[in-house]
Amino acid sequence: MAESIANGERRSSLHGHWSSRVAFILAVTGSAVGLGNIWKFPYMAGVNGGGAFVLIYLGCVLIVGLPIMMAEIMIGRRGRRNPVATMQILGEEEAGQTAWGLVGLMGVMAGFIILSFYSVIAGWTVAYTFKAAANEFAQQDAATLSAAFGAFVANPLITGAWHTLFMAVTVSLVALGVERGLEKAVRLMVPALLVLLGYAINSGSFGAGVEFLFRPDFSKVSGAMVLAAMGQAFFTLSVGMGAIMAYGAYLPQEASIAQTSIAVVLADTSIAILAGLVIFPIVFANGLDPAEGPGLIFQTLPLAFGQLPGGSVFGTLFFVLLAFAALTSAISLMEPAVAWMVESRRLSRPVSAVIVGIIIWLLGFLTVLSFSNLKDFKFLKGTLFDNFDYLTSNLMLPLGGLLITVFAGWVMCGNSSSDELDPAAGYVYRTWHFLTRYVAPVAVVLVFLNAIGVFEP
Ligand code: PHE
Repeated sequence: MAESIANGERRSSLHGHWSSRVAFILAVTGSAVGLGNIWKFPYMAGVNGGGAFVLIYLGCVLIVGLPIMMAEIMIGRRGRRNPVATMQILGEEEAGQTAWGLVGLMGVMAGFIILSFYSVIAGWTVAYTFKAAANEFAQQDAATLSAAFGAFVANPLITGAWHTLFMAVTVSLVALGVERGLEKAVRLMVPALLVLLGYAINSGSFGAGVEFLFRPDFSKVSGAMVLAAMGQAFFTLSVGMGAIMAYGAYLPQEASIAQTSIAVVLADTSIAILAGLVIFPIVFANGLDPAEGPGLIFQTLPLAFGQLPGGSVFGTLFFVLLAFAALTSAISLMEPAVAWMVESRRLSRPVSAVIVGIIIWLLGFLTVLSFSNLKDFKFLKGTLFDNFDYLTSNLMLPLGGLLITVFAGWVMCGNSSSDELDPAAGYVYRTWHFLTRYVAPVAVVLVFLNAIGVFEP
């Protein structure tokens, strides 16, 4: 089997290809940029004490996330199947080991769990679109807006309904195979954030926000915090679960994987930092708690919209953009599972999307209830969402990423990976190969060991 590839024959995808390199970059950016940048990054940075977390997160993006993104695209394009089949086929071809398919299967499961809570939070942003449009934030103070958020998430009927709507739209788009056009939201996100940045600069606490975000306080570093920073790097780049691998399967052969990955990582990282620069000045200017948790942007941004001239229109637009950015990420979270069902169960794309969507939709109610105030479900409160998030971001994605680097760096022969990544085998390939063989896997293992207290630097 290996020969046919070495002879220059290539597999082709069963789902068609991206029309161009730009279409692919937009799709991967659409997957990467989402709630992870605007919602999760600021609240995680807040909970973990700011600067030191941000620094470690940036380091993980560069030396772990970027090489894994390149590895995923490379593996996806070589296999040209869904992540389960791709890992199986390449494992067989390169080493006679089909068990690598399990890495793809773990990714499919991670996608189910992540999307189950992701959709609930995306539902909050849709709801907040309507609150902004109804001018509910005008001239409200921090305490009122915090209380309003608390009352909103406490009602499982309402949050459940928005979650249902978001899943219905996601499933419809995946079923129809729609992707083009949606990514415009990501491009508009940057100008929208810049307007908010202007507000943050004038809030009187911009300096305090910048200091919180960029001055590292190393006394805040702990094993758990480093693991959280690494988990955030995986989550925000969409790596470690096969979403990028699934997209790589549709990438035209001639596109440069390194350039594409660097462009995506730069865009994703700048948007997260920009979001942090907007949120923390508002936090400090209004005496809010940076360690507020998952509700942070829903308590701070409405303050800005309530005070900005034209804030109702602008706030509506902002939450719409955020919901669209979440939608392009949600689509990519379903892609490994849907492509896998289409290819292996011979189901149509719409049927697969509906089956996958229903399972995720039902699972999402556990997150809805874990934020709610229902008496009978008190035992779920706060815990389930945290556990789902921890299980996926801190365990499944890094473990998947570790196995992907071991596969790309050690199991695949150098000829296959250089052929795919950089046939001239120049310094780009050599740097990637070094990071993928040594740096990334060792870093992930050390962070794991450090988090369970086995190893302390
Ligand atoms: N990267 C997306 C975000 O930041 C979330 C995501 C994670 C998407 C994993 C796909 C896979 O919002």
